[in-house]
Amino acid sequence: MDRTTLFHIFAAFLFLYNFPTCLSRTSPNITTDQSALLALKSSIALPPDHILATNWTTTNPSSVCDWVGITCGKLHHRVAALDLPNMGLIGTIPPHLGNLSFLVRLNINNNSFYGDLPTELANIHRLQYFSVRLNNFGGHIPKWFGAFPKLERLNVENNSFSGSIPQDFGNLQSLKILNMQFNQFSGSIPRTIFNMSSLEALALTGNSLSGNLPTDVCNCLPNIKFIYLSINELEGQIPPWLQECSKLQVLSLSVNRFTGPIPSEIGNLTMLKELHLSHNSLEGEIPSVFANLVNLWYLALQSAGLTGLIPSLLFNMSSLEEIYLPENNFSRSLPRNICPRPLLRVLAIARNKLSGNIPTEVGNCTALRVIDLQENNFTEYGQEGLVSTNCDVYSFGILMMEVFTRKKPTDEMFTSDLSLSHWVSEALVNGVTQAMDSRLIRKEDEHFFAEVSCVSSIFELALNCTAESPENRINIKDALALLQKIRLQFLAKLSEN
Ligand SMILES: *[C@@H]1O[C@H](CO)[C@@H](O)[C@H](O)[C@H]1NC(C)=O
Ligand SMILES: *[C@@H]1O[C@H](CO)[C@@H](O)[C@H](O)[C@H]1NC(C)=O
Ligand SMILES: *[C@@H]1O[C@H](CO)[C@@H](O)[C@H](O)[C@H]1NC(C)=O
Ligand SMILES: *[C@@H]1O[C@H](CO)[C@@H](O)[C@H](O)[C@H]1NC(C)=O
Ligand SMILES: *[C@@H]1O[C@H](CO)[C@@H](O)[C@H](O)[C@H]1NC(C)=O
Ligand SMILES: *[C@@H]1O[C@H](CO)[C@@H](O)[C@H](O)[C@H]1NC(C)=O
Ligand SMILES: *[C@@H]1O[C@H](CO)[C@@H](O)[C@H](O)[C@H]1NC(C)=O
Ligand SMILES: *[C@@H]1O[C@H](CO)[C@@H](O)[C@H](O)[C@H]1NC(C)=O
Ligand SMILES: *[C@@H]1O[C@H](CO)[C@@H](O)[C@H](O)[C@H]1NC(C)=O
Ligand SMILES: *[C@@H]1O[C@H](CO)[C@@H](O)[C@H](O)[C@H]1NC(C)=O
Ligand SMILES: *[C@@H]1O[C@H](CO)[C@@H](O)[C@H](O)[C@H]1NC(C)=O
Ligand SMILES: *[C@@H]1O[C@H](CO)[C@@H](O)[C@H](O)[C@H]1NC(C)=O
Repeated sequence: MDRTTLFHIFAAFLFLYNFPTCLSRTSPNITTDQSALLALKSSIALPPDHILATNWTTTNPSSVCDWVGITCGKLHHRVAALDLPNMGLIGTIPPHLGNLSFLVRLNINNNSFYGDLPTELANIHRLQYFSVRLNNFGGHIPKWFGAFPKLERLNVENNSFSGSIPQDFGNLQSLKILNMQFNQFSGSIPRTIFNMSSLEALALTGNSLSGNLPTDVCNCLPNIKFIYLSINELEGQIPPWLQECSKLQVLSLSVNRFTGPIPSEIGNLTMLKELHLSHNSLEGEIPSVFANLVNLWYLALQSAGLTGLIPSLLFNMSSLEEIYLPENNFSRSLPRNICPRPLLRVLAIARNKLSGNIPTEVGNCTALRVIDLQENNFTEYGQEGLVSTNCDVYSFGILMMEVFTRKKPTDEMFTSDLSLSHWVSEALVNGVTQAMDSRLIRKEDEHFFAEVSCVSSIFELALNCTAESPENRINIKDALALLQKIRLQFLAKLSEN
């Protein structure tokens, strides 16, 4: 052992021995933690029988480690975690909470805390997890959040914070999840946010953020998996650098003011599972690089300003289950390969300029639950296409029932003696609303009675189509004519009111 090592051992020894004594007067200890928690308790309006009122009582300082919601560190015996979610707590956060200097985790989700976050919280250097979602906090988000060196998760979703997102957030080099959805943040998203190498989820949906996304950042979000920026006022083009986010699984930019084409770089996002670009002012066609998105199951491009064909490659994508393309300017006819693999569950292409026949191959879409083709310029049903060949009246009846009940004949609730059609016919006797999809029709709808009577007629028709013996079934041409009549009657009723 040489002299230097010996010196180090001595130094360490002296340090260990002197540390508690020489700092005992100034350094916080478990007694400090106890007063911080009691300050928190007294800033909450607690009914006398609330668990915190009865449980957070002092016998000795170390008993705080046994209080509900408190976890102490094994070595240092100080409060390391405060978990008080879903407890109906109404109150504020006192500055004393900043004295919990060993706190690693703060979770008070889903309560009714209000007011500002006190500056003193900035002292909690060990903080890794900060989550206050579903409360009523307000004011600006403090700049000092950018100073937590170990912070991995910051969640302030569903509060009333306002002001801008601090630049300093870019310093949070351990941050994995930044969730600030559904507040009133405004201003532009700081460039620094797009330079957080550890970030996996960026969720800023439902604020009033504006301006362009930066165009010239480079490979700066190498770990990002989820980007949620919907329902804001963002504008400019969808930035091509997204191609470098090779782990991206969800890109959600709906309900903004993005312009320009869908960049072809999107084809590099081979891990992408969901793409939400609805309600923007984009232009151009669905790019052919979509063929590379082999993991995409959800595609929403409603009212996005797109034109051109609905490309056949879309139906060739092995994983795509839900396609929403209404309210664009798609034209010409639908591709014939509409269900090469029977995964497709939703095909919504209403209010475009599509024409030609509805391909008979729709009959191959056995998983299809919702098909919305309204307000296009398709050749009349019944002349050709859908009806004339392999779409039989029985499947047509089942399809109508599925669409209006959002149930499948294979649904768990249909045991052998309660089939979908049996259930629908019972509903016609007992009240049709119980069988209807509650998302389609609600009691408070202006035209509730017209809607109910329309759906009753559709159910009657559907039951006829699925009558047990084929000779009792209406023929498909008459069924379609009747459906058309029901529709016209419904529209007439709406205009009466
Ligand atoms: C905590 O520190 C105070 C002095 O600041 C001291 O009086 C108290 O005994 C200490 N408590 C424990 C549990 O060490
Ligand atoms: C508080 O609750 C914890 C966990 O339920 C329990 O272990 C502890 O004994 C309780 N303390 C008091 C004072 O009621
Ligand atoms: C919020 O907490 C209440 C209990 O206070 C609970 O009933 C409710 O389900 C919780 N909501 C969420 C979204 O967790
Ligand atoms: C804890 O914090 C409060 C308010 O920030 C302060 O007044 C108090 O002196 C601090 N220290 C202790 C040991 O409680
Ligand atoms: C969060 O707020 C949004 C918008 O106000 C609301 O739609 C959503 O239901 C809220 N989330 C929860 C879990 O309450
Ligand atoms: C990103 O952060 C690194 C350091 O973490 C810095 O060197 C670089 O300049 C930053 N880039 C941008 C575009 O802000
Ligand atoms: C994106 O894809 C193109 C063409 O497949 C390729 O040349 C380019 O290197 C890819 N970019 C990245 C960042 O992987
Ligand atoms: C669809 O995929 C098949 C093989 O998987 C391929 O032969 C065909 O060319 C593809 N069609 C389109 C339009 O991409
Ligand atoms: C379709 O194109 C026309 C002419 O360019 C335009 O006026 C209209 O707004 C577009 N419709 C949609 C739904 O994008
Ligand atoms: C649809 O299914 C039939 C057999 O039922 C098959 O012959 C035909 O090739 C399929 N069409 C498409 C476009 O996959
Ligand atoms: C609908 O299609 C018919 C025949 O294919 C055509 O004459 C008519 O102009 C089209 N209408 C619209 C609005 O595109
Ligand atoms: C179905 O409708 C046809 C024609 O309207 C009718 O002849 C037949 O009796 C009906 N079948 C049932 C089961 O109601």
